[in-house]
Amino acid sequence: MRTPFIAGNWKMHKTVSEAITLAEALRTSLADVTGVDLAVGPTATALYAVNRVLSGSNIAVAAQNMHWEEQGAFTGEISPLMVLELAQYVILGHSERRQYFGETDETVNRKLKSALSHSLSPIVCIGENLEQNRAGETVSFVTKQIHGAFAGISAAEARKVTLAYEPIWAIGTGLTATPEDANRIIRTAIRDVLAELYDEQTAETIRVQYGGSVKPHNMAAFIVMPEIDGALVGGASLKADSFTAIVKNALAAL
Ligand code: 13P
Repeated sequence: MRTPFIAGNWKMHKTVSEAITLAEALRTSLADVTGVDLAVGPTATALYAVNRVLSGSNIAVAAQNMHWEEQGAFTGEISPLMVLELAQYVILGHSERRQYFGETDETVNRKLKSALSHSLSPIVCIGENLEQNRAGETVSFVTKQIHGAFAGISAAEARKVTLAYEPIWAIGTGLTATPEDANRIIRTAIRDVLAELYDEQTAETIRVQYGGSVKPHNMAAFIVMPEIDGALVGGASLKADSFTAIVKNALAAL
């Protein structure tokens, strides 16, 4: 049985004081929640403060990105050692980083290896764009991303990874994949591929979130799908009441 996992990706939102306010509200509103792993991903500048607010709570902290090197002349980057002091999870290969900041399957793979070797829990994002979706290339594209991300990673390490299937055309648009389509893609382009790369047990162990316009009203329809283990939430994670409603609606549907 995979434990459901719901995480909020705050993207480039919230100053430190705003992030503290949101984290404090979530700490209270989600205090009684059990049976689901929870995390929030503030910007790098707010990681320290949010980590302090959420320390000892049932909500973990996620960084949104990191470099693979431990230190060095990489202006503007943060390293796995720096993340490790402030967060348990790290989001890697988000489509916005691939699209706007030149991340590739190869850099995602380097980051993933580094995160795993530093005992961080990675959340690796994959997903097709609208053009690929319309051309019927979703399965082949996501399959390629999975092969790229997991190159050279052992089964034991792979089991520690969470994947987030986020169709790019569903991010921030109010459009979602249908739960059935998301379930089918996760089965055929993710779990079947992982079973081939590794083995059945590894494929069944890895958690896969859905991401892309997850809101309180549609969370239940995704979480009841057998292949979907939770959500990576963008816009609706920026307010305590909507993120709380997403978590509670998911739990009520399980
Ligand atoms: P939205 O929930 O705003 O569509 O963002 C999804 C996402 O990109 C989470 O990483």
